Amino acid sequence: MRSVNYIEYHGLMLPKESHNADSLQYFEKLSVMDNDVIVITYPKSGTTWMQEILPPLLHGGDLTTVQTIPNWDRVPWMEETRASLVMDKLHSPRAMVSHMPYHLMPPTFFTSKAKVIYVARNPKDVSVSSFHFHKMASFLDDPGSFEEFIDKFLAGNVFFGKWTDHVKSWRNPDLGDRILYITYEEMIQDLRGVLERILNFLGRQLSSEALDCVVNNGMFKNMKTNSMSNYSLVPEDIMNSKTSPFLRKGIAGDWKNHFSAELNAKFTAVIQEELKDTNIKFPWDEE
Ligand code: A3P
Repeated sequence: MRSVNYIEYHGLMLPKESHNADSLQYFEKLSVMDNDVIVITYPKSGTTWMQEILPPLLHGGDLTTVQTIPNWDRVPWMEETRASLVMDKLHSPRAMVSHMPYHLMPPTFFTSKAKVIYVARNPKDVSVSSFHFHKMASFLDDPGSFEEFIDKFLAGNVFFGKWTDHVKSWRNPDLGDRILYITYEEMIQDLRGVLERILNFLGRQLSSEALDCVVNNGMFKNMKTNSMSNYSLVPEDIMNSKTSPFLRKGIAGDWKNHFSAELNAKFTAVIQEELKDTNIKFPWDEE
């Protein structure tokens, strides 16, 4: 499990490229505000997509920040090195993202009324997306073959640990109505409908025309050409889009092109076993 690419934080492997002792200390001391909106994702579940749609939803449909500020500074990761540099520049209400499990959130999160949007994605598609990301990102370990990578993924020997642990941690009943659960697949199927749910959850409204613009701007093909969102600003020796673009396929069900029947059965059995004592249900359970 030890690798030069990661630091260990409470048993989790975090990429050194974007996390260090200072950034994690900043995270722990962060003053979460009541009107903050925090998007929580397990990596490769739609984080960048939320960084695209949340600012205009919170700021009257204004797309300026989406067109002028890179996604990592526009809606920063609370735990990453950029956070301390940009957090004070965010317009209120602030939008931020995190991959952290619930129990590692900073103390002020638990005493605040900050709202949380949890985006889950079919773990089979998460693992496929992550496999390709490991190939293009020089700061992550080489994934090995797809079958080898799936073994690591299921064992939690990947950055931010096990998918099932992450999902379970954020089902904490203490969160009450502070949390909205959505899925990547629902966004693929009906982005406008999901955005309406988010607006409703946040107690905000947008005109129908403004919402149309947010939906249009958040479409995969349009994000792919937005240099503030497609990671083309990152040097090629760090993220090589020729190996695999960051915004790769943007579909639900790509796992069917990668999993053998045997691997699929193994993957399903492990996930089912780890969720069996919970009442967590997902739209992809019957696939
Ligand atoms: P794929 O690799 O399956 O294409 P994250 O931002 O959490 O790292 O997640 C990245 C995944 O979200 C990638 O999945 C990426 O293509 C997908 N994604 C980002 N924006 C999207 C959009 N507008 N529509 C569909 N998928 C999107």
